[in-house]
Amino acid sequence: MSTLLKVENIETYIGQYHILQGVSFEVKKGEVTVLLGRNGAGKTTSLRSIMGLTPPSSGKIIYKGEEIQGLPTFKTADKGIGYVPEDQGIFGDLTVEENMKVAMRKQDVETKDRMNWIIDLFPDLKKFWKKAGGNLSGGQKQMLSIARAYLNDNDLILIDEPSKGLAPIVVEKVMESIVEMKERTTILLVEQNFIMASKIGDRFYIIDDGKTVHDGQMEMLVKDDDMKKKYLGIA
Ligand SMILES: Nc1ncnc2c1ncn2[C@@H]1O[C@H](COP(=O)(O)OP(=O)(O)OP(=O)(O)O)[C@@H](O)[C@H]1O
Ligand SMILES: [Mg+2]
Repeated sequence: MSTLLKVENIETYIGQYHILQGVSFEVKKGEVTVLLGRNGAGKTTSLRSIMGLTPPSSGKIIYKGEEIQGLPTFKTADKGIGYVPEDQGIFGDLTVEENMKVAMRKQDVETKDRMNWIIDLFPDLKKFWKKAGGNLSGGQKQMLSIARAYLNDNDLILIDEPSKGLAPIVVEKVMESIVEMKERTTILLVEQNFIMASKIGDRFYIIDDGKTVHDGQMEMLVKDDDMKKKYLGIA
């Protein structure tokens, strides 16, 4: 399978803090790659580094064979990389419909097709179409945030902890949507919910203290209790 994104030994500072100290991973086309690691390990900063929100000071980020490290965020997004941030980033004063429209990069037939598919996928969004984003439940906000990234013609979507703070039934729904999305695009997922991560992930990377420490096929990690205990704090 071909490599869509390659992150090569990136180092990222936030202010004077040396947060990423050598993060490397590859995302293969058509797969779900999962970044795992404890709280504060550097997972969000890795995604933000790709998006140019916290640009790396060294190392390379290669997307479709082209170096993109340090590009402004809008240019990275224009290359077809969607981002679902940890805090969802919904506009509270805008309705669901307006949030979707603001996110829409094109108004072509394909985008309209994707819009119809998204509405089928998340019927709640249609139900609350005219409701302000700020008045949605946590689960609805997460769905809206994911829907915005699915709307555009993205070849890669970065999703940061979509299950965080959600009720199990909503987690299930979010998971189903990622499984469906996998048929259409490639996904880089940060997820602490190991059951979810192991069900939908093909390949994993563990980040610890700002460094990549392990990687492999997801089924290998599922069987490796020592590694799960050491780096993820789960037995
Ligand atoms: N704005 C900031 N200023 C200073 N330190 C920061 C800032 N943002 C993040 N950090 C630190 O960088 C480290 C990595 O944070 P990051 O958010 O990438 O971790 P994470 O793996 O996503 O954690 P979590 O699982 O809690 O979301 C943490 O130690 C965090 O405290
Ligand atoms: Mg995080």
